[in-house]
Amino acid sequence: MTYSRITGTGSYLPERVMTNRDLEQIVDTSDSWIRERTGIEQRHIAADGQLTSDLAEPAARRALEAAGRVPEEVDLIIVATTTPDRTFPSTACLLQQKLGIHGPPAFDVQAVCTGFVYALSVADKFIKTGAARCALVVGAETLSRIVNWSDRNTCVLFADGAGAVVLEASGEPGIIRTDIHADGSYESLLTTAKPDPETTDPERLADGTAFIEMRGNEVFRMAVNTLGRIVDQTVEAAGMSPDEIDWLVPHQANIRIIQATARKLGMSMDRVVVTVDRHGNTSAASVPLALDAAVRDGRIKRGDVILTEAFGGGFTWGSALLRY
Ligand code: COA
Repeated sequence: MTYSRITGTGSYLPERVMTNRDLEQIVDTSDSWIRERTGIEQRHIAADGQLTSDLAEPAARRALEAAGRVPEEVDLIIVATTTPDRTFPSTACLLQQKLGIHGPPAFDVQAVCTGFVYALSVADKFIKTGAARCALVVGAETLSRIVNWSDRNTCVLFADGAGAVVLEASGEPGIIRTDIHADGSYESLLTTAKPDPETTDPERLADGTAFIEMRGNEVFRMAVNTLGRIVDQTVEAAGMSPDEIDWLVPHQANIRIIQATARKLGMSMDRVVVTVDRHGNTSAASVPLALDAAVRDGRIKRGDVILTEAFGGGFTWGSALLRY
């Protein structure tokens, strides 16, 4: 039996840091409100002209370096993103070009904040079936481009960044299981505005109609309930118990959602990787960014059992249980 295993992680955050104090200058908010309700203290924002593939490239190169691989060895590229550089070519193809790779399949996965868990699940299946042996799985976002900077309900939450893993064929797991789900009937709770069928106006993005719209309270409740359920299901289906999990690496949306999931699993917060304070919600990039942070600072070690989970627009949700 062939399994897939993470052999390297990498991440990249744009240089510009925006603090809660900076946001106080933009909308009617306060540092204390943002900290108390979300746990966020600062976030990184892409520079003018810096696109999602520009963040994905250094993250991918760092993951390859950590895995001891060169780009020519990659035989599958999947980029999870909600903020592609363009409608097409896919951000994965643009990343492939930047890495100087020619030939292997490259495509994007769009599952909003669950994108990385979806992409990991897809790459795992490619490797298990023998269709790939060395996959580059990336989560990368420039959400600052689809945030309405005059809407205090959303602009304090979202941010930019990229994270990547190299996933390789292995004789032992590796990825133990992934579970991914969606229910489109909740589409209106967390969305961007529908395109106007009456117009092909190129200014549509600039006039704000594609910006993130969210019913925060309802999303919060759904996220807590759904994540609490799915982590239990994944651990149980793997025949394991929460005591066997060394690290929870959750999607970084809100510290209160993360704490609720940890409580559900009976895990203390010192076994939970938290980056939401420094990164904000970077959607598909948040899980690989958090994973890379904890690998590089030495908390996560080879052999540790990791549970990741995410929830996002769609709604989509999913989790992955793996041995690092
Ligand atoms: N600064 C100050 N006040 C703000 C604010 C801000 N940035 N944003 C909202 N408020 C105000 C609201 O207008 C409201 O005021 P009112 O009572 O006068 O109407 C008050 O704060 C409470 O708003 P509410 O929405 O009930 O707060 P909350 O405790 O639910 O926290 C969120 C709001 C957005 C932080 C929270 O609902 C949340 O995190 N939801 C999930 C969002 C998420 O994770 N989305 C991505 C999923 S991947």
